[in-house]
Order: sequence, then C-alpha cells, then structure tokens
Amino acid sequence: MLEVKNVVKKFGDITALDHINLKVKKGEKIVVIGPSGCGKSTLLRCINLLETPTSGTIKYEGVETINIKRNHLSQKIGMIFQSYNLFNHLTIIKNITLVPIKLKLMTKEEAYKKAYKLLDEMKLKDKAGRYPRELSGGEKQRIAIIRSLILEPEVLLIDEPTGALDPENIKDVLKLLEDISDTGMTMVVVTHEMNFASHFADRVVFMEHGKIIIDGDAKEIFVNPKNVRLKEFLSKIRS
Ligand SMILES: Nc1ncnc2c1ncn2[C@@H]1O[C@H](COP(=O)(O)OP(=O)(O)OP(=O)(O)O)[C@@H](O)[C@H]1O
Ligand SMILES: [Mg+2]
Repeated sequence: MLEVKNVVKKFGDITALDHINLKVKKGEKIVVIGPSGCGKSTLLRCINLLETPTSGTIKYEGVETINIKRNHLSQKIGMIFQSYNLFNHLTIIKNITLVPIKLKLMTKEEAYKKAYKLLDEMKLKDKAGRYPRELSGGEKQRIAIIRSLILEPEVLLIDEPTGALDPENIKDVLKLLEDISDTGMTMVVVTHEMNFASHFADRVVFMEHGKIIIDGDAKEIFVNPKNVRLKEFLSKIRS
C-alpha cells in the first residue's frame, strides 16, 4: 500500500536519506531501528509529507503522495511523535476533535461521540475536560494516539512513542500499540524498545547513515542477527 522508491533527502550538505527503498504491505507491522541521526524520523516525515524528498518517489495505493491533497493524506496516514504535539491551551476532548471538525469530516456531535467512545475504551474518559499539563506523559501519549485513531487512518507512523516516558508509562503506551496492532492496522514504528519490537514486528528495518542496511523478517533478525553492525547495535541498546 506504501512504496518508497529511491528517496534521497538532503538538508544542506547533510544526506539524511540516501536512496531509500521500502515497501509496506497492508497489515504489516514494521519496526525501524538504527543509531541516532541515521534518518529514521526523516523517513517517517517524508512518507507523511512533513518533509519533501530531494529526489525519489513515495506512492500510497499507487498514487504519488505529492499528488494527494495533504488533508486527504493525513486522514489515511496517521503520525504519532515522541513529543505528543498536543495543544496545551485546549482541553483533551478539544485536542482530539479539532481536526475532524475543522476538516468537516464529522459534525461536532459525531466527533465528540467518537472521541468519548475511544476515551472510554482506553479508560481515559475522566480526562476529557482536562488540559494536557494535568496529564502524565503516558496519558498524553495515549491521547495523541486517540487523536490519530479518530480519523480512522489506514496506516500509523509512530516515531519513538515511549522515548520521553518513564517505565510505568512506557508499559501502558506499548500495551495500547499492541491492542491497535491486533485490529490489523498497518504500522511503522521507530522504537528502541527491543522487547516490544521482538514480539510486535513482522519486519525489521535497520538504518545507518541514511541507508537501509537490513530489511528482513523480525524473528530472524532478533533471534540470530548475522550482520556485524546490527549485532553491535543490538548489544549496545540491550545493555
Ligand atoms: N530540519 C532539519 N534540518 C537540518 N538537518 C536535519 C533536519 N532534520 C534532520 N536533520 C539531520 O538529518 C539527519 C537524520 O536525522 P533524523 O532526525 O532523521 O535521525 P533519527 O534517526 O530520527 O535520529 P534519533 O534517533 O536521534 O531521533 C541528522 O544528521 C539530522 O541532524
Ligand atoms: Mg528521530
């Protein structure tokens, strides 16, 4: 459903992505790993049109994403960041319903109904009238995930969802991602949580210096990594 072909992204003389090729099939769970600065965030940001590739093409359902209206694409492809990106001056319910109401995808009543249903399912209903500053990091991240889910995306791109959280909150967020995964959602997740990655992922993509060095079956990669650089990387983050 998603095809990244020969994508290069340069920032001045930095090559953040160096001829990236990646195909994502419907329902796949892909984990992207690699050292800091290797281009993981830039890859997700290019897929979601938050950055424009310097060269190469990205297709969604066979259509080049640059030819898809941004609003339309952002409904199909949801993006979740390490830093939540919630609006601090808006209540939780307003944060969740802002986009669908603004884009006229739903009436206010529909949006609120759906938001309350999701909040209820995730046991966060009592937070609806609160402001982001009144929530824990894990709660904020789960709200950010609900904000994506209300649009019923077809793919979720998730960039280090637990990077800013303490261990207790990490568990809740990872559990939620697993629940979403069980619904059959297509997901591309950048994470350093290797325990989570090893039972969540079908496929693992290992990047270095803007290139994909390895793209393979998760079990093979986690159980018996053959590549020396990957082995080094895994032992570093597992220690
Ligand atoms: N907006 C930008 N302007 C200039 N350089 C950038 C910009 N965004 C990213 N870069 C550079 O591109 C490279 C890849 O960055 P990116 O954020 O994609 O790495 P990453 O793999 O996500 O790293 P981390 O694990 O630390 O999040 C880095 O060298 C970074 O400094
Ligand atoms: Mg990053």
